[in-house]
Amino acid sequence: MSFYADHVFPVVLDIATRPLMPQRKALIAAAKGRILEIGIGTGANLPFYSDLASEIVGIEPDRAMLAKAQQMAAKSHTAAVVKLAIDDAQNLQFPNDSFDTVIMCLVLCTIPDPVKAVQEAYRVLKPDGQLLFLEHVRAPSTMVARLQNWATPAWKHLGCGCHLNRDTESTIHSAGFRFLHIERYQHPKMMTLGASMIQGVAVKS
Ligand SMILES: C[S@@+](CC[C@H](N)C(=O)[O-])C[C@H]1O[C@@H](n2cnc3c(N)ncnc32)[C@H](O)[C@@H]1O
Repeated sequence: MSFYADHVFPVVLDIATRPLMPQRKALIAAAKGRILEIGIGTGANLPFYSDLASEIVGIEPDRAMLAKAQQMAAKSHTAAVVKLAIDDAQNLQFPNDSFDTVIMCLVLCTIPDPVKAVQEAYRVLKPDGQLLFLEHVRAPSTMVARLQNWATPAWKHLGCGCHLNRDTESTIHSAGFRFLHIERYQHPKMMTLGASMIQGVAVKS
């Protein structure tokens, strides 16, 4: 990729998302069974898996990110088997109905075709499986959403493909998921244009 993408962005990402640690912890605590974490990045969620996790499969298209996740996996104390692989959320290598939990954490802002990625998550989840998500999204305020639209073309470069203005709740719903629980909130410690969050649990309907 580039020096920025390989060496600078992973560090910036970890620092910029530090305020989300409590939200990451709460999300990941509910992950159970055989788990697929989409776009695992630097592995920032790995310390938060509980004993409910039996196997964690982390996929990532970016080799530099995956190398960082491998270092994090080596340090993490999870009892689960951790497997990390290069893969694309838009075209997953796994058969239908193969995971109990799919995690999408701060990825639907970045994946080029988020609709395809959510359809793939739906496909690989078992019929009684759960999608756990934590995403920054298009703001409910029209004025902030306009600013997000304006800033996104430049932001995409800084954030290695990140969009500030995606309606991710609709994307998840349109793939056929039913929300068991969804929280919509403004994160008080994130910068305004990336502070509108959704977090929750969705199941196959
Ligand atoms: C903002 S980072 C979040 C990383 C991590 N999930 C976290 O919570 O810190 C977005 C991640 O999505 C990954 N990504 C981008 N395109 C992807 C794709 N097509 N399939 C899977 N992951 C992708 C990026 O490489 C990056 O690691």
